[in-house]
Amino acid sequence: MRVDLLEAILARRQPRFIYTLPTFQNPTGVVMSLERRRRLLQLAKRYQVPIVEDDAYGEIYFGEEAPQPLKALDTYGNVLYLSTYSKMLAPGLRVAWLVAPEPVIERMGLYKQTFDLNTNAIGQWIIAELMQRDLLNEHLLRARQCYQHKLTLMLDAIERYWPAGGRVYPPAGGMHLWYRLPGDMRARHLLREAAHERVAFVSGELFHVDGGGHHYIRLSFASPEEKHITEGVRRIGIAMRRLMARRTHSDERDLPIERLPVV
Ligand SMILES: Cc1ncc(COP(=O)(O)O)c(C=O)c1O
Repeated sequence: MRVDLLEAILARRQPRFIYTLPTFQNPTGVVMSLERRRRLLQLAKRYQVPIVEDDAYGEIYFGEEAPQPLKALDTYGNVLYLSTYSKMLAPGLRVAWLVAPEPVIERMGLYKQTFDLNTNAIGQWIIAELMQRDLLNEHLLRARQCYQHKLTLMLDAIERYWPAGGRVYPPAGGMHLWYRLPGDMRARHLLREAAHERVAFVSGELFHVDGGGHHYIRLSFASPEEKHITEGVRRIGIAMRRLMARRTHSDERDLPIERLPVV
């Protein structure tokens, strides 16, 4: 969030709300600094715009403790805090929660009913049982260690198998690694080449509404098995080198991505 640019936008556009993902942002893994959080809250208060804080990844931290949510600094009641069990437990449970002033919760509850009638009872029941037996905290301790270990494996493999010239942005939590490809290598060209190696990643373009992100990729380290992380990174490295070797002979154009099965 470019808080330095926000004031001009708030003044000109008068938005209905500000959506932000301040902790372990997807895809970059960035954590908004305390200074920017304070400034964001100040601006939102001044322009009377509510903030929707999406904190899906806050519990998956690799440091000593979780960064404080924006909501924890909100003395004005202006932050609608959202989180989910999808990342910390299982996406299939389809259970999330909202922290907001009561009238907001009531209104949003009514709107939500028009979409899904209610949140699934079995998912809520499973989570309640896990909490009552104090198993959720235990699970989170293990999940943090496991994901951090997988991230380390991914970083080691990148160091070992990828050509120099790119830039890694190691996250302090979450599930994703953001990477700047070397030189003018384009994510969509690499994706096509990587498909021949039966491996895929998410191109940075998908995270940009303004046509940016061509030279960035997002890798997920949470769900693949350890051996697949190392092997997947190795294969992307092969694709990178092939692309680099070819580029020295001919110029790549924006060819469409072929549809190859990815295994
Ligand atoms: C920032 C963020 N919020 C929310 C979600 C999804 O949450 P849910 O499964 O509860 O819809 C995701 C999943 O990718 C996410 O990245």
